[in-house]
Amino acid sequence: MSDQKRIPQHVAIIMDGNGRWAEKRGKERYEGHIAGVESVRRALRAAANRGVKYLTLYAFSTENWGRPAAEVDALMELFCRSIVNETPELLRQGVEIRMIGDRTRFSEKVQQHLARAEEQTAGGKTLTLILALNYSSRDEIARAVREIARRAAAGELSPAEISEQTIAAALDTAPFPDPDLVIRTSGEQRLSNFLLWQASYAEMWFPEVLWPDFSEQDFDRALEEYARRDRRFGLIK
Ligand code: FPP
Repeated sequence: MSDQKRIPQHVAIIMDGNGRWAEKRGKERYEGHIAGVESVRRALRAAANRGVKYLTLYAFSTENWGRPAAEVDALMELFCRSIVNETPELLRQGVEIRMIGDRTRFSEKVQQHLARAEEQTAGGKTLTLILALNYSSRDEIARAVREIARRAAAGELSPAEISEQTIAAALDTAPFPDPDLVIRTSGEQRLSNFLLWQASYAEMWFPEVLWPDFSEQDFDRALEEYARRDRRFGLIK
């Protein structure tokens, strides 16, 4: 990409279509998720090479607990295994891992793996990889409102002082800039409870490709599309 200014600082991806990818091949759904991990590697490499600084991936929503237990267990196993196996390579690449979502619902073992990966990669300067795990926007906003209400009730904050900044600072995403570009694969054109507050001014891109088939070229196509868009933030240009 020639114009560096047009590279989005933060790309967020809803990785959709693993199940359909597997079903099309007569495979079990979890095999689609395993293939999806390869796409995560490719997207991460592409993002880092192109100068994207934050990459958020929607890996598990609060609604995903409603899937069959075997699929949920397989996903948990896959998260742990991938995070443990990939951490040395992420460290080498200078990738910092962070999580958003309510991790208290995960088993002790999963929580320990997540915390260790965050500690080990802290300070990585190339890119911050943000995994949305047991995440949904409405749940995140409800948790933030509870915390703000608690501070108000404790007299630490007056209701009249509550601003957009107060709310943004109480969200899981407080340390990160808002996403500039949101990608959802598999042709679905919905946000499905993902970064509803943060994506207020994000550009959206909905390619037909299923997540396990998402390539570096697809990532580049998203960046090209983004570079063509005229972002006005409600202003006239
Ligand atoms: C959506 O496809 C995908 C998921 C619910 C899981 C995404 C997880 C991965 C790609 C593994 C990532 C691993 C790490 C370490 C981040 P779907 O199952 O809803 O597909 P469908 O709509 O075709 O059924």
